[in-house]
Amino acid sequence: MKKTGFGKTAEGQSVEMVTLSNSNGCEASIITYGATLATLTMPDHQGRFADVVLGFKTLEEYQRNPYYIGSTIGRYGNRISGGKFRLNGKEITLARNNGENNLHGGIKGFNAVVWDARENSTAEGEGLTLGYSSADGEEGFPGNLSTEVTYRLTKDNTLRIDYRATTDMDTVVNLTHHSYFNLAGEGSSSILVHRMMINADRFTPVDGRLIPTGEIQPVRDTPLDFTKPAGIGERIDASHEQIRLGGGYDHNFVLNRKDDGLVPAACVLEPGSGRVLEVWTTEPGMQFYSGNFLDGKMSGKSGKPYTRRSGFCLETQHYPDSPNRPEFPSTVLKPGQEYRSTTVYKFLTE
Ligand code: GLA
Repeated sequence: MKKTGFGKTAEGQSVEMVTLSNSNGCEASIITYGATLATLTMPDHQGRFADVVLGFKTLEEYQRNPYYIGSTIGRYGNRISGGKFRLNGKEITLARNNGENNLHGGIKGFNAVVWDARENSTAEGEGLTLGYSSADGEEGFPGNLSTEVTYRLTKDNTLRIDYRATTDMDTVVNLTHHSYFNLAGEGSSSILVHRMMINADRFTPVDGRLIPTGEIQPVRDTPLDFTKPAGIGERIDASHEQIRLGGGYDHNFVLNRKDDGLVPAACVLEPGSGRVLEVWTTEPGMQFYSGNFLDGKMSGKSGKPYTRRSGFCLETQHYPDSPNRPEFPSTVLKPGQEYRSTTVYKFLTE
């Protein structure tokens, strides 16, 4: 494990970068601002390494980062309609940062705070645990929420992320990870040639605000059918209404699962490099977001502009807007309970 300074915020908080490595030569660097994954290097089919996640060189760029590149997202990943919901009969009003909606925790979400960090290496691999205590009322959410995120890079080229949280009042929690992957290496232009498979027979359709309508529909006979591998680019501009509303893919897939353990969520292959990413999770859903809002206004670590669809996100999660949808799996956390969630990003080659 290597630790270096990564600058100071305007409020004078020091930010650090911690690099985890494994015996195969892979590295994962995390910065304490936003508990953000800044680099992840993985070999291709000939053993050549590339950095497979988008990221920036400086803290100043991470502080601007309107795309949530690499961030840990909280308290609530994705959108809460109208920035409000009812809990125990009381209306809760949240910060609104996406039109009238709350997106990814609000104006200053977990992606924009400095986390504490401690080394947490085990026989399985080097690890880092980051902690953040969010005060009651932060961005409108009730309860003091104490959160921990552990990143571990294991010998089998897996980045495992474990989340835990506890509260002192009834609240809602939905944590996720917002890396943009490009398995050809960050800065390589498009993700459209990647072949995607998603273990989901159903998805939650959205309206024009990207808020779920409440329905759960089959992916069958739609461009969202990734039950068999398909190129990301094959149907991304199809005339299907959901694709038009999403500007491409920006949808929550309802993962096929029989119990609440770790299940395969997605498998992605980049044919040129032979790199394969498998995603496993304990969560009921996963947002496949094809980077439609990346606009080329910011350049990444290697100086190349991050243009539209130059990275894709696989954000494991509870469904968007669950606090307003009693029919969706609940995101309520109560005092005495522990929120736990695990997502595994495993890299292979073929
Ligand atoms: C998520 C959402 C997208 C977009 C990005 C951030 O992935 O689903 O609609 O808001 O975050 O740009």
